[in-house]
Amino acid sequence: MTEVDLAHPTEDSADAWWRDAVVYQVYPRSFADSDGDGVGDLAGIRDKLGYLELLGVDAIWLSPVMRSPMADHGYDVADPRDIDPLFGDLADFDALVAEAHEREIRVTMDLVPNHTSDQHAWFAEALAASPGSPARARYYFRDGRGEGGTEPPNNWRSMFGGPAWTRVTEPDGSLGQWYLHLFASEQPDLNWDNPEVSDDLARTLRFWLDRGIDGFRIDVAHGLAKPDQLPDMAHNDESELLDSAEGDPRFDQDGVHEIHRNIRKVLDEYPGSVAVGEVWVDDDERFGDYVRPDELHLAFNFRLVQADFDATAIREAIDHSIRAVGRVGATPTWTLSNHDVDREVTRYGGGAVGRDRARAMALVKLALPGVAFLYNGSELGLPNADLPDEALRDPMWERSGHTERGRDACRIPLPWEGTEPPFGFTDGKSAPWLPIPTDWSGLTVESQLEDLDSTLTLYRSALELRAKHPEFSGAEIEWYGSPSECLAFRRAGGVICALNASAEPISLPPGTLVLASAPLIDGKLAPNAAAWLV
Ligand code: GLC
Repeated sequence: MTEVDLAHPTEDSADAWWRDAVVYQVYPRSFADSDGDGVGDLAGIRDKLGYLELLGVDAIWLSPVMRSPMADHGYDVADPRDIDPLFGDLADFDALVAEAHEREIRVTMDLVPNHTSDQHAWFAEALAASPGSPARARYYFRDGRGEGGTEPPNNWRSMFGGPAWTRVTEPDGSLGQWYLHLFASEQPDLNWDNPEVSDDLARTLRFWLDRGIDGFRIDVAHGLAKPDQLPDMAHNDESELLDSAEGDPRFDQDGVHEIHRNIRKVLDEYPGSVAVGEVWVDDDERFGDYVRPDELHLAFNFRLVQADFDATAIREAIDHSIRAVGRVGATPTWTLSNHDVDREVTRYGGGAVGRDRARAMALVKLALPGVAFLYNGSELGLPNADLPDEALRDPMWERSGHTERGRDACRIPLPWEGTEPPFGFTDGKSAPWLPIPTDWSGLTVESQLEDLDSTLTLYRSALELRAKHPEFSGAEIEWYGSPSECLAFRRAGGVICALNASAEPISLPPGTLVLASAPLIDGKLAPNAAAWLV
């Protein structure tokens, strides 16, 4: 029996709406385009709120919509307190929040505190100022190593490939200092030891909370703090892009927790608001530290993203996830995909098998206690798309010297209706920013809405059952004995979820079947399928 005490000491339960929420991630560029420029926008999202209501989600999380030159598609923020014109303006944002609230959908948004854009006013000031100046002290500017400072200050790699340092030309035209960027060179890292940096984030939090936002996703929440002296990495292997090993000085430094405590203090002034951190930390104890009662409310846990379609791996992922946050009385979170990783259909093998497994895992995820995150397009069973080199837009492609294709394949615009691209994503005046595969007509929202066997229908049924039935309550799960390559667990409220990852049909546990991800075979659960029973 795994026990989780979901009663976070500092939370009033009425304010903790998010504890069992289904949060839908909108990747704004790819959701819906209202103005025909080929890139999704806020008015496009607003137009589709009826769809999200029908789907039955409790909240949306918007990937960044703030002012940005889009070197990393919005994760390079030039002004954290304004909307980028590509997406609309503050009035569009306010209208989206108001209408979402009318439909009882909460709105959370991405914040990017680890770095700014190189087009942020602070960075321009830093470049114009001299070494050692207060303007440079908001970032990490350092002299280079070696004669003439021609070598980067340490051996850190950028997560997108190449060194994590770029050398600047000083205002007098000479080659000068280097600045740190854990991601693209257009994303200089902020120095979180500088109080101006934390004051500015508090201002940004209040700016959006005062506009009625319900919370934030904190980008790279395990980054932010850097160790004194910026010591070299023990391993700086290029093959581990977007990955970090234990003991990596770039991430998960003890100093990060003070930053999250300060974020929490601001959020506590706004009852009902929530912060979820992007925390790529494998150690259970260190992961749990991010969601101690005075830190972030939630942390993304990527264990299901990292697990193969294998009963043992999935069970371990679930146990670790629950244990990691249970120690500190926090709520678990579940994610199968997002804008940075392969879509689950593709991860599980692609084609019909990949789709069946993704449907099965949707039922596993949605039966678990805690918060379920759902990446736009998962509910349609979208796979990754094959893109030709010339279509690639992710900065990883260029920075890795064309060895890493990056994350575009999971960011394809959503197919809404019709039989050919752009499938209603845009009105066709401009091509979508990434090409939509021509064979996606069977995956459109329109074609799946009326189809009782579609993945969209499965999601709608699952979300409705989860929201309405008391069997989905309870923070505990109990594992049942099950045939090899299968798993079954029971929530305290009573729902049982069984998953068949074996090659043979299996008998279902006792109970009344309420939903299955595939038709039963002679009363048995099909391979690559899951079922809910009460
Ligand atoms: C996070 C985002 C990713 C972005 C990176 C840099 O990992 O999810 O999309 O590229 O941070 O901001």
